[in-house]
Amino acid sequence: LQAPSRRWQLSVQRLSLSLLVLQNSVLVMVMHHSRNAPTNSQPRYLASTAVLLVEVIKLLASLALATHDTCRSHPSASLSAVAIHLYHSVFARDSWKLIVPAALYTLQNSLVYTAISNLDAVTFQVTYQLKILTTVLFSILLLGRSITLRQWLALILLTLGVALVQVSGTLTSDDWLERLSSLIRGGTLPTSSAFKGLMAVVAASLTSGLTCVYFEKLVKDSMGSVSLWTRNVQLSFFSLFPALFIGVLWQDGAAIARNGFFAGYNPVVWLTIGLQALGGLIVAVCITYADNVAKNFAASLSIVVSYAATAIIFRTPLTLHATGGAAVVLLAMYLFNGRPAPRMVLLPVNQDG
Ligand code: C5P
Repeated sequence: LQAPSRRWQLSVQRLSLSLLVLQNSVLVMVMHHSRNAPTNSQPRYLASTAVLLVEVIKLLASLALATHDTCRSHPSASLSAVAIHLYHSVFARDSWKLIVPAALYTLQNSLVYTAISNLDAVTFQVTYQLKILTTVLFSILLLGRSITLRQWLALILLTLGVALVQVSGTLTSDDWLERLSSLIRGGTLPTSSAFKGLMAVVAASLTSGLTCVYFEKLVKDSMGSVSLWTRNVQLSFFSLFPALFIGVLWQDGAAIARNGFFAGYNPVVWLTIGLQALGGLIVAVCITYADNVAKNFAASLSIVVSYAATAIIFRTPLTLHATGGAAVVLLAMYLFNGRPAPRMVLLPVNQDG
């Protein structure tokens, strides 16, 4: 496979990070709504079925993109030759390496559903920012990256800035602290539910950091020989097994037999599934053309963007907290990169240009 030019890489990098900001801005709200809106006595849809469908959609999309890549690099090949080529690259000898990230991502995707079903959107989004720190830690441990004191400071500022924007969205910080401590003490929500949600989001953050870093290493180590979309076909293919056998059949088999696979599905659920599948594909591009830290910065920036959009659309006044929080997030990006544009990239080593 031909290595793409540096300029093309930078364009893909910027586009994918911007798309991730947009996708993230709407996903959490839509997903929260899909889990928590009243269902008119219908059973709520099962998260395991959504996790499986997201993987099926990503598998089909990645397969289409991998086919497109193969046709482009072998323009005179027949359709059957392309199919054979794809089969051999997907089931290549090193494809087993995707089994671990596939299992971990499936677990993470289920944990996110558990978290979002048991916590309010604010608490979920703030706590899920923990993945910024876990990603950096695993990048240091597994990729041997180093991080300067200034960048550590930037990460702490980023976490604080996001928390500030978030808490001012619906609550004041005093309300929020009170709410969090009462959550931990089991006040506003039943203890088991809140505790379950918090544990789920902490576990999802850990899984996110570990899995993204592992996937980044895998893709960048084999860049030039295995395409990103082939890797994604492998990832989704291996994800189908835990999603189907552990999630759908083992965990929810009885409920599905009783109410059907699509019980509780409505347009919002389908929108959640579509947005998640799209998000997975965008994340794959961000990890490859930028890196995981950049991906998480984009996710944090989306919190600022969704807050600003809400303020503009619903004409809610901007609070001091939120504006200060947004400024802190931008300052963190500046400190991390040395300049404000999203330049927090570590391009793969074997590139031209
Ligand atoms: O929150 P985080 O950024 O870790 O979420 C990553 C999401 O992207 C997961 O839902 C995962 O399934 C998806 N993903 C993907 N393909 C990749 C990497 C991640 O679908 N190559």
